[in-house]
Amino acid sequence: MMFTLAVKKATFYHRQMRRVTLIISLCTISILVRAQVITSPDKNLTLKFELRANGEPAYELTYKKKPVIRQSRLGLETKDVPSFMNGFAVAKTEQKAVNDTWEPVWGEQKTIRNQYNELLVTLTQKAQKDRRINIRFRLFNDGLGFRYEFPQQENLNYFIIAEEHTEFNLTGDHKIFWIRGDYNTNEYAYTTSQISEIPKLIEKATIDVHAQVPIDTLSVQTPSMMKTADGLYINIHEAALINYPAMHLNVDPKNFRMSSHLTPDAVGNKGYMQTETQTPWRTIVVSDKATDILASRLILNLNEPTRYEDVSWIKPTKYIGVWWEYFVHGKSSWAYSTENNVKLTDDFTKFKPNGRHGATNENVRRYIDFASKHGFDAVLVEGWNIGWEDWFGNWKEEVFDFVTPYPDFDVKALNEYASSKGVKLMMHHETASSVSNYERRLDTAFQFMNKFGYNAVKTGYVGKIIPRGEQHDGQWMVNHYIHVAETAAKYKIMVNSHEAVRPTGLHRTFPNWIAQESARGTEFEAMGGLAPDHTTILPFTRLMGGPMDYTPGIFQTDMSVYGGTQRANTTLVKQLAYYVTIYSPLQMAADLPENYERFPDAFQFIKDVALDWDDTYVQEAEPGDYVTIARKAKGKNEWYVGGITDEKGRTATIPFSYLPKGKRYVATIYADAKDASWNKNPQKYSIRQVEVTPKSVLKQALAPGGGVAISIKEASRSELKGLKKI
Ligand code: NOJ
Ligand code: CA
Repeated sequence: MMFTLAVKKATFYHRQMRRVTLIISLCTISILVRAQVITSPDKNLTLKFELRANGEPAYELTYKKKPVIRQSRLGLETKDVPSFMNGFAVAKTEQKAVNDTWEPVWGEQKTIRNQYNELLVTLTQKAQKDRRINIRFRLFNDGLGFRYEFPQQENLNYFIIAEEHTEFNLTGDHKIFWIRGDYNTNEYAYTTSQISEIPKLIEKATIDVHAQVPIDTLSVQTPSMMKTADGLYINIHEAALINYPAMHLNVDPKNFRMSSHLTPDAVGNKGYMQTETQTPWRTIVVSDKATDILASRLILNLNEPTRYEDVSWIKPTKYIGVWWEYFVHGKSSWAYSTENNVKLTDDFTKFKPNGRHGATNENVRRYIDFASKHGFDAVLVEGWNIGWEDWFGNWKEEVFDFVTPYPDFDVKALNEYASSKGVKLMMHHETASSVSNYERRLDTAFQFMNKFGYNAVKTGYVGKIIPRGEQHDGQWMVNHYIHVAETAAKYKIMVNSHEAVRPTGLHRTFPNWIAQESARGTEFEAMGGLAPDHTTILPFTRLMGGPMDYTPGIFQTDMSVYGGTQRANTTLVKQLAYYVTIYSPLQMAADLPENYERFPDAFQFIKDVALDWDDTYVQEAEPGDYVTIARKAKGKNEWYVGGITDEKGRTATIPFSYLPKGKRYVATIYADAKDASWNKNPQKYSIRQVEVTPKSVLKQALAPGGGVAISIKEASRSELKGLKKI
């Protein structure tokens, strides 16, 4: 119900927006032309739409005269009505140009330019009583977005999609950064290979993660990042995934062809449609510079503006949590008791405590004190509510009720204590993927949060979905995540979803959906490992869709101190750099308080770094190798730089040309020590201060698996006394 509202609203906003943009655009209408060409505003990209002889729609895309996508077909196969594959004629084409700007509630930059040339093609199928669909193309300077639209019409109301057949015919055997197609999880490690090598690597790339259902066709997930032999970067993903299943990409490794593969539902269908509706946008971001891929805002531009009237309650948040100790301390657990068969009706005060419970009044107070002392906004507490004893693996429906704390967790007193210290507690709703149960209890759970003063929730979808047979990436679940975000907004609650479908820029429309996990994050440093190049790939893949709750900040990288065998494959400084290179308005300092206390000078960077930005400067980047980004803090004359490298050491080249002229600046540089690396001396670093000007260019050595973090502030002449100028 709520969700239908969201879809209807989106359509309504879309119409509204169209009204505004039409005023500033040039509108041309041509009738019955089989081929149409538009160029991007800067003329670098050309899109050609064409109807093939059998009335099959097709498109091709070139960049600086080089083909990016060779002619590729478009179309959808349906279940219950004749398909939308061929037999089309062009009824009408319309073009317009849009050039405006908008301001996100939070983001990587204060103002975003939305400039594109649009081609809208109306197609009719004569043999099907003139049934009509539209294909809308938007060509930006940084790439292409297109979608199928199904206007309301006499001879088409409801239909079921059997498969979407959007093709991406690539021009060769590109290098690709990929994870296997899977209907339920994105928590795979990336493989870097040529497209033709995917078949021989696919089994090796299939690691063991919860709830996985690897797709049985040869397929990869989006965002899919590729690089051609002659240096073109191509990223394929989707935008505005609403009321539709997520798209995977089938791979034809001989013909270098990708084609859409939608996530099925419990009965094998792929999408239930009612006119007037549309598919999400299919996006192709293209550039000959890797930095431009990271600077692209195309996916956000293709999402609808938010209609929330009051957004003052949505606040970028820096938090710590009773969390990492569950992963590295065998001593600490989510569960409270020694039972292994519990029910929501059980009286937990009667159970024998297991002596390892993490979310105790005492422990949570310790975290609140630490957060307050160091200026954090919030403390996440996991394991606070009954049900963790047998929460996983039983496909059980009534796992959690989201309102009943364990006997040693005093919700009221702890929230009052936090509030007295200027800190919020952050709610945790692990649904265990019993989503029907969560939906039934959602309003009560949010009312409970309002009552005690929580303003943010981390949701989780570990395990197999209930309703049984549904998939994390299917249409039903896609609608669920949005339903949670919209319902949370009614209660002024921010949402950070883990194990949800990968993001597609919907945080523009639902800005309280403040972050997601949807990739392999820090937790894997303690449960299977992350390769040193993982975080140089993430910005080009997962992060293209939206911010990630990666949970960085691990200072104690060697887990053997806890009796474990794992190690985080980074230096300490690389963990600092993540606060800049992994964009999110929600950032955790994930390590244990005692580890931060051991390195107070390095911890200072985490305390200082901003969460919201006026501007972003992607300075150097190569997927799989390195990323250097500088950002200006929102509303402040402060800048932060993060640079990271893979397992190879390198020298980063870091200019400061974005600094306004006429002022003086001090830069505090957090650098790897000379003999540091991810596996030797990862905790050795140096911190130095220098004077920088807009002309300065810093050459900074990064250790193997290392990084650099810099904070820059305005300074007076006396503050700069004795400092070296670079
Ligand atoms: C997986 C999440 O990613 C992690 O952060 C959380 O602690 C566990 N699920 C338990 O909910
Ligand atoms: Ca996870």
